[in-house]
Amino acid sequence: IPAFSQTPPNPFRVATEATFPPFEFQQGGQLTGFDIDLMRAIGKEADLNIDFRNLPFDGIIPALQARTVEAAISGMTITAERAQAISFSRPYFKAGLAIAVREDNQTIKNFEDLKGKRIAVQIGTTGALEATKIPGATVSQFDSAALALQELINGRVDAVVNDKPVTLYAIKQAGLRGVKVVGELLTEEFYGIALPKNSPYLQLINDALGRVIESGRYDAIFRQWFGE
Ligand code: ARG
Repeated sequence: IPAFSQTPPNPFRVATEATFPPFEFQQGGQLTGFDIDLMRAIGKEADLNIDFRNLPFDGIIPALQARTVEAAISGMTITAERAQAISFSRPYFKAGLAIAVREDNQTIKNFEDLKGKRIAVQIGTTGALEATKIPGATVSQFDSAALALQELINGRVDAVVNDKPVTLYAIKQAGLRGVKVVGELLTEEFYGIALPKNSPYLQLINDALGRVIESGRYDAIFRQWFGE
């Protein structure tokens, strides 16, 4: 029997790290966000009984490898390095990293200016990876992007390197004060749904994602979270 014909498990466990608004976060004890809505639409399309599991971001790939979850949706960037360990769906969102500094900062304007600076990041992220490449920088790793941004506001670091849509949402929608985004996008990144390597459900997820996109439901979810 070819792998792709396997009946999906019920429930279908999907990992996420729910401190990353507007992609995944908790509101009144309920999981919500763009990724959550998208995954629910995919689950509906593929007839899956989705059961979200909230995990630390750096625990998601190990959980996929241990197959304690069937998939993960967590604003996770498709990278060549990760693709050695796990499989990705087709891309579903274009994002990238941006620098955040305190509003009164006039000296940090781009990536070059981060040399020798104190930078806060979320552990296990592409932002963490990029920050650690900066010569002379001191990188502090936090369990969430929100904690990294708090460190910036408290003056204990000079900058945060984080996914731009998440930092912008914190400033514009969640009312985070005293912080601004500077410079160009540092990277162009694409999010994918992650599955264990050679997962028998990759095709199922890709097909369902394709139908969610083509039917206009993706656009409706996008507009709901990002306007337009
Ligand atoms: N896009 C970045 C990455 O893949 C950050 C993702 C963080 N996601 C989260 N739910 N905390 O590394």
